[in-house]
Amino acid sequence: MRHESYESDPMSETIDISVLKSTWSSPLDPAALLPVLAPIGQARTLPAEAYTSAEVHRWELANFFEGSWVCAGRSSVLERSGDQTAVRVGTEGILLVRDADGALRGFYNVCRHRGHELLECGATTNRRGIVCPYHAWAYGLDGRLRGAPRFRHLTSTDPVHEGLLPAAVSEWHGWLFVNPSGAAPPFAQHVGNLDELVGAHRPEQLVLGATHHYEVAANWKIVVENYHECYHCTSIHPELCRVTPPSSGDSSVPTGLWVGGSMDLMPHAKTMSISGESQGVFLPGLDEGSRRQVFYYGMFPTFLISLHPDYVLTHRLEPLTPDRTRIECQWLFPAEAMERPDFDPSYAVEFWDLTNRQDWQACESVQRGVASRGYRQGPLAIEEDNVHQFQTMVAGGYLQGGPARPVAPARRATSPSVEGSFGD
Ligand code: FES
Ligand SMILES: [Fe+2]
Repeated sequence: MRHESYESDPMSETIDISVLKSTWSSPLDPAALLPVLAPIGQARTLPAEAYTSAEVHRWELANFFEGSWVCAGRSSVLERSGDQTAVRVGTEGILLVRDADGALRGFYNVCRHRGHELLECGATTNRRGIVCPYHAWAYGLDGRLRGAPRFRHLTSTDPVHEGLLPAAVSEWHGWLFVNPSGAAPPFAQHVGNLDELVGAHRPEQLVLGATHHYEVAANWKIVVENYHECYHCTSIHPELCRVTPPSSGDSSVPTGLWVGGSMDLMPHAKTMSISGESQGVFLPGLDEGSRRQVFYYGMFPTFLISLHPDYVLTHRLEPLTPDRTRIECQWLFPAEAMERPDFDPSYAVEFWDLTNRQDWQACESVQRGVASRGYRQGPLAIEEDNVHQFQTMVAGGYLQGGPARPVAPARRATSPSVEGSFGD
């Protein structure tokens, strides 16, 4: 990949190592993390415990997931007033509700009576209020307590009248986001300039065409790292290499908590499909340049957005255990294509399902490798600079106690020593 130049070093802005030495509460030994933060060329990968330790996994759920903004799916799940769904983020359950005014609201999925969950995680419903299934306490769509059957001795000052406790939520280009701890920076700061980059493809106007679920025997970070590099493409993705040159593209300079860039399409290819042909239509509003590229963005921690000229693909990752990750893959298309009676999304779905399965095999092999006593922190190729950026978010996050900004992409053209270290 080619790379834009980047003048300042954001790690020096975000991580003061001298302060950390006296205050760190990292789940991993900082001595193993500092090499991860070195410039690419000298940087090493994450230590094994980052992928295998139950203690690190628990720390990540609390700090990287509950303490950050996590995608909870498409807004279309909550289209009408009264629509409700419950999601799990980290160890927290969050109830998401479309209120009477059409606003998105989030509450901890906990009844004020004795704590029963208001809706089973993963379930959806539509009703005029929120009703606890245990003893039928009722709440308005604004979360206020409306009724507690046969409960006559509550004083008017009892705190249960506050109703459900609100949780931080946000809606962005047709996706729902949750921050269970309420302590993450504002959502706009989290996404930074990804907003304009993704906004150009207008994903909020797209319609869901297909959903696949996978369960992969690998740590969630191995799946994200695999997404962020095409150094492996010539080895394991022959079909992908026929429609996109694996060494093409740029890395973007993020101002938020994300990493990504673009790749070019081969001259004959209109999109990413086995033949390179598209059965759909171009996304509305795309300029000529964007119709010849695919954009890959990974928003911390686990929302991967792949923008194609004629469809958008997302991966949402849910870490189950240190070595198991559930993945939801969704394909979104313009309404104009979906409304055609003969439209068949399989040209895009089958291509990425095949590519996904090739990737999962590699990820599961890496998981077995990092769990071996033979694993050592390894070096990264320049083509893996997005992996390096992602790993600086993780290592910096361990040291800071919460999500951290990535370093800039590598300055390949200005790093002759780096080139020398990694020549064939
Ligand atoms: S726990 Fe919800 S009504 Fe009793
Ligand atoms: Fe891949």
